[in-house]
Amino acid sequence: NGLLGEVWDDEMSSSMLGTRMKKVVQNYQAMNKYGVELSGPGGVSGTPKLSGPELLCQLKDKVEVATLTPDLQPFSLLPWATQLPPQQLTSDLGPYKSCAVVSSAGSLRYSGLGKEIDSHEAVLRFNAAPTTGYEKDVGSKTTIRLINSQVMASDDHRFLSSSLYSSGVLVAWDPAPFSADLTKWFNRTDYPIFTQYQRYRRLHPLQPFYILHPRLEWQIWQRIQDNMAEPIQKNPPSSGMLGTVLMMSLCEVVHVYEFLPSRRKTELCHYYQRFYDAACTLGAYHPLLYEKNLVKRMNQGSDRDIYTNGRVTLPGFRKLNC
Ligand code: C5P
Repeated sequence: NGLLGEVWDDEMSSSMLGTRMKKVVQNYQAMNKYGVELSGPGGVSGTPKLSGPELLCQLKDKVEVATLTPDLQPFSLLPWATQLPPQQLTSDLGPYKSCAVVSSAGSLRYSGLGKEIDSHEAVLRFNAAPTTGYEKDVGSKTTIRLINSQVMASDDHRFLSSSLYSSGVLVAWDPAPFSADLTKWFNRTDYPIFTQYQRYRRLHPLQPFYILHPRLEWQIWQRIQDNMAEPIQKNPPSSGMLGTVLMMSLCEVVHVYEFLPSRRKTELCHYYQRFYDAACTLGAYHPLLYEKNLVKRMNQGSDRDIYTNGRVTLPGFRKLNC
């Protein structure tokens, strides 16, 4: 291991962060905007550390990638419910043989991973991440784009008009109350996901566009918390974590790029923006640090793959023998 530099340590803790970041994380750990209720052993000591295969089976068993359909209340009572896809995303898409999940991390810059990423049957990208001008490093294929409600609502992303969003399948999500009660969420979304969804659908009626069931956020959150030794932020997981689990339910093999930083690790936030902040990689609002611990423990590839290519290998749920 001597020639190999440091790769992500699966016991990363907020105590290993710098003073400023530690404070930010602690503040979020103390806040409970979404009404998280701790159940069971809930992380804090006592719970045995599960192996990678055990964690994978737990995830497969306890997490369901569901999307909103027109029959669900309160949407079924609203005229625009017919704009929602009638079937689940998981019954409309895949199964794919191999999939790439492209984090938007700054360490993708100068990676030369574009060809490798595009060689996958399906490629998932996030939010406003572009391919034009960055093909060498991130490829050009986009099968699915997972977007958060903040991107959908903000003026600078021009969500309704930018061509960035008009190819591939769109999937949107918004931080919901921990109860995942659809009516409570509908009345109190973080950003106006539903008005933006209706507007987008009217402008692009033929593009497939799903909304994640908010249960998924908190099911994944619970898997993270139950397997960590300290309290994590009581906020939903990052788009990166949601997208990784989404692809695990559609694909036989999932390669996640630069979620666990390679030797190119940098404070550059996104590969497509000149903005530097370590919180993009380590998390502030999202329990990103702990998401990365979990992914490191589930990784079936080598540390060298992480170090040189920023690449993690995860099995699809279908392929798992639990
Ligand atoms: O910033 P954004 O959410 O659009 O990025 C997509 C995902 O990529 C994040 O949710 C996070 O999981 C991952 N990411 C990362 N390190 C960065 C930037 C993004 O792990 N520096």
